[in-house]
Amino acid sequence: MEVIIAKDADAVAELGAQLVCELLNKKPEAVMGLTTGSTPIALYQKLIQRHQQGEASFRAITTFNLDEYIGMTADNPQSYRSFMNRELFDQIDILKANTHVPSCGLEDNPRAIGAAYERAISVAGGIDLQILGIGSNGHIGFNEPCSSLSSRTRMKILTESTVNDNSRLFSAEEFQPHLAVTMGIASILESRRVTLLATGAHKAEAVRDAIEGPLSARCQASALQMHERATFIIDEAAASCLEYGDYFRWANSENTPIIEKFGNFYELD
Ligand code: GLP
Repeated sequence: MEVIIAKDADAVAELGAQLVCELLNKKPEAVMGLTTGSTPIALYQKLIQRHQQGEASFRAITTFNLDEYIGMTADNPQSYRSFMNRELFDQIDILKANTHVPSCGLEDNPRAIGAAYERAISVAGGIDLQILGIGSNGHIGFNEPCSSLSSRTRMKILTESTVNDNSRLFSAEEFQPHLAVTMGIASILESRRVTLLATGAHKAEAVRDAIEGPLSARCQASALQMHERATFIIDEAAASCLEYGDYFRWANSENTPIIEKFGNFYELD
C-alpha cells in the first residue's frame, strides 16, 4: 500500500490529477471508476483546468461511477448523475454515452441493475483506475460497515451515520433517500489500480482504520489492504491519527529517487 501524506487538500487534488493525467497519457482509452462527494470536487476542477489548457483529453475514456441513490432520476439535482454532469462531464470533452452511473428507479429491480452494471464493467475491459473517497464510518462507495468484503454491485440500505453525514447536502424540503445501489468491495478490488483521497480531520479515524486497522468488514476501506496497487493520498489533517505517519513520510522521500530511476511500482504496466 502506498500512503502519500500531502500538505493540504489542494495538494491532494493536485497529486490525484497527476495520477489521472499519467494514466490518460499512457492509455487515452482508459476505463475510470469515479466517485462523488465533496472530496473529489477539487480533483475534478484540476482535471477541467488541464482540459481547458489543452493538456488532457477525455474523449476516448469510459467511466463507471461507484454509486447512485435509488429513485433519483437523472434530472434530479441531488442525483449522483447530476453531480457528475455538473462537476465534471459537462466541462470536459467526454462522450456522455461512455459515462455510467448505476441508476435504479423505484420500480426497477436493484438485483438486475447490479448484475447489468457488473457486466457492463467487464465488457468495457475492467476499471484501470478507481478513484475513491471515504465516509467517516470507513465506507467506500455506499458499502456500509459490516457489508460483505466479497460484495458486488447491489442495493444497500444506508446507516444512520451516513444519512446524517450527507444530510448537510439536502435542504429541509428535499427528500433524502436512504437506499442506494453501490459497486461492491469485490468489484472495487478488481480495478487494476485504486486511489483513495481523504482530507480533513473528520476523516482521520476512518483513514487510520483503513490503513493501519485490522482487515475488517467494520471498516470497509480496510479491504484495500488486500489490493496490490492501492494508493492513499491524504492531507496532514486526515493523517493525524496514523501511528505510522512518520514512516510513510520517510518512505516517500526514500522512494523518490527509486521512482525517478525505475518508475513507480504502483503504476500500471
Ligand atoms: C458518500 C459517497 C462516497 C464518498 C463519501 C464521502 O457517502 N457515497 O463515495 O466517499 O460520501 O464524501 P465526502 O467526500 O463528501 O466526505
